[in-house]
Amino acid sequence: MGRKIFEAVNLHNLRMKNRLIRSATWEGIADFDGSISDEAYGIYSEIAKGGVGAIIVGFTDVSQDDYYIHGAMRLSRDELIPQYRKLTDIIHAEDCPVIIQLALGAFYRKLPNGLTQQTEPDNMTEDEIQQVIGMFIQSAKRAEAANFDGVQIHAAHFFFLSRFISPRVNHRNDSYGGNTANRSRILTEILDGIKSECPGLHVTIKINSSDFIRGGLNESESLEICRILADNGIDSIEVSGNGTSAEGIRAGVNEAYFLDFAANLAENVNVPVMLVGGLRSIRVMQRILDTTKIELLSLSRPLLREPDLPAKFLSGKSSESLCVSCNACYSSHAHRCIYR
Ligand SMILES: Cc1cc2nc3c(=O)[nH]c(=O)nc-3n(C[C@H](O)[C@H](O)[C@H](O)COP(=O)(O)O)c2cc1C
Repeated sequence: MGRKIFEAVNLHNLRMKNRLIRSATWEGIADFDGSISDEAYGIYSEIAKGGVGAIIVGFTDVSQDDYYIHGAMRLSRDELIPQYRKLTDIIHAEDCPVIIQLALGAFYRKLPNGLTQQTEPDNMTEDEIQQVIGMFIQSAKRAEAANFDGVQIHAAHFFFLSRFISPRVNHRNDSYGGNTANRSRILTEILDGIKSECPGLHVTIKINSSDFIRGGLNESESLEICRILADNGIDSIEVSGNGTSAEGIRAGVNEAYFLDFAANLAENVNVPVMLVGGLRSIRVMQRILDTTKIELLSLSRPLLREPDLPAKFLSGKSSESLCVSCNACYSSHAHRCIYR
């Protein structure tokens, strides 16, 4: 029998009531120390009530010293764990599993004078690379303590890990650079560490299908990295790209802009693939399930416009998102949809 959007799916350490995922979407309203605001609790409660199969909480910084993006949540200190436990309680109350996206915008070296300096992969010492790996593993342990069902390693969109694995940025000639396996070693070491410290978590990764820049990660190399991750036990892979939130996407017209890569990836790795990017209609999503091996369908902007879109789809009240992909959400308070 064919696969359906609204059917239960069991992945490693993750049970979902349907195949729709809320793709990580950062609100930009956390306090300076990374604390979650009441407004953010409200946003997540609304999405969880809207019927999505699982939520990926937006960009959550593994470092206390990284101010690369504005208003990011952080899981960089144990004292923050109770705030995240409150968040998982709110989401779990709606029968919705929740994954947290662990991310680093950039690495900031601590200088002897107490200031910090943004440091690119080529200039980092091995000790500093180990610090980054350690920050991801420690944050995953905090996520487990806060009752998250999983963590997502953010290796997309040209933030730190995405730059580190990109041949455009990483010109190291040690074991962390030089070829695909070496550049992706940072990912496999993070993955190994999380897997051994937190065996109960679903561990997923978000990765660029291509950097879409000259000299950057291309599709064949991204596929090779995904194969390496699959061989090292990643539980699922979310496919994105550097042109993360393309404008002007219309239901039935130009949906699913990373589909070709994701469909090919799903043929080539033995782990569930999630597709994000311009999914807008039941018709296209069902066609993807009918014609490819892609398992999960991720939505970001459609749920800013209509947090209850999954419930509307299920009840038949709607078959297409009202999102017009204007990208005004990027500049609005809390990244809210300006049409709501
Ligand atoms: C306001 C906004 C915030 C976003 N924040 C994140 C984020 O925290 N982490 C991430 O990986 N992607 C982030 N994205 C990208 C989305 O997860 C998604 O990959 C992209 O918007 C394409 O999907 P869509 O067409 O369903 O919106 C964000 C997108 C928007 C519009």
